[in-house]
Amino acid sequence: MRYLTFALGKGRLARKSMELFEQIGITCEEMQDPATRKLIFVNEELKLRFFLAKAPDVPTYVEYGAADVGIVGKDTILEEHRRMYEVLDLGYGKCRMCVCGPESARELLKHQELIRVATKYPHIAKEYFYNQKHQTVEIIKLNGSIELAPIVGLSEVIVDIVETGSTLKENGLKVLEEVCPLSARMVVNQVSMKMENERIGKMINELKKVI
Ligand code: PRP
Repeated sequence: MRYLTFALGKGRLARKSMELFEQIGITCEEMQDPATRKLIFVNEELKLRFFLAKAPDVPTYVEYGAADVGIVGKDTILEEHRRMYEVLDLGYGKCRMCVCGPESARELLKHQELIRVATKYPHIAKEYFYNQKHQTVEIIKLNGSIELAPIVGLSEVIVDIVETGSTLKENGLKVLEEVCPLSARMVVNQVSMKMENERIGKMINELKKVI
């Protein structure tokens, strides 16, 4: 039997993902060690391999078949638009993609002004402003701490993830518009879905029972 390989997005989702797999009897002891610098973990008995990758790289591994299965946020799926199947909403990592800014920016959004939008998600921002709102904007790509942009005057608004809302609150910003709801999803390589239909299908059914 060949190994089934899983790519998990590093960070917030990874621990939850392993907890979910544990509930259906898929464990990987090696991975529990917080001090490990190892990148890939093997469950010999079940012929499974797991690795952690930067979230935006997970769809890349899955599209090319280097991973059969991936777990990643809907935000990353929408941003990367890779060829793969999205098979399951895992129900955790729930948050929202929003347009945020100071209260004073609300007017600028209403009146189709040419505003600057800072974001880690340029595709999602473009799709929202150009195709849904029909508003021409300048999109400025950043890599983190997006909330800084309107505070220091880099942009009028941001498109970013809001979970509890405390980052916004502590920085005097507000949700001005909601783009879409987000959560963790399971994605599968298109060839693996055919070749490993039995193993992957069984796993999906077991996951559905515990979600
Ligand atoms: C995310 C997001 C917000 C924050 C929202 O950032 O970009 O900054 O979490 O969470 P909250 O609504 O619960 O405050 P993350 O911590 O992933 O880091 P980043 O700044 O590198 O994007």
